[in-house]
Amino acid sequence: MKQLTFLLAFIFAVTVSAFADVKAGEKLFFKKCKGCHAFGKKKMGPDLSGISQRANAEWLKKWLTDTKGTWAADDPITQNLKSRVKEKRPKHKTPRKLSGEKMDNLIEFLMTK
Ligand code: HEC
Repeated sequence: MKQLTFLLAFIFAVTVSAFADVKAGEKLFFKKCKGCHAFGKKKMGPDLSGISQRANAEWLKKWLTDTKGTWAADDPITQNLKSRVKEKRPKHKTPRKLSGEKMDNLIEFLMTK
């Protein structure tokens, strides 16, 4: 019984923490990114619905921390983006002070989209 209680508490803690990350990321998105992005419609930046299918967490982190470098590296995910936006240089701007846990939460949220 003691073991079962422990197991349930563990599962609960893991579930809650995973949920909290996505929620925190969502909040951050609507604070920092919604001026240029939405889900289901294009704003100044591309519609981000389906982003987890077009990109992966590793690429998103690269894009959000080093946009110019990612643009220059021209990997297949970036090529796909370029083919849709037809810009010579990136217009995307990651607001400053987005790193560590905040960045991870944001990416976690984007990967649910
Ligand atoms: C000033 C407007 C602006 C802001 C603010 C901005 N972006 Fe962008 N974003 C863009 C534009 C424009 C593009 C298209 C590529 C380009 O021109 O840079 C883009 C591209 C992207 C892409 C690639 C989209 C795709 O369809 O492949 C992702 C992902 C992204 N932005 C995420 C974010 C996140 C997350 C934030 C908030 C931290 C954010 N952006 C803030 C303008 C913005």
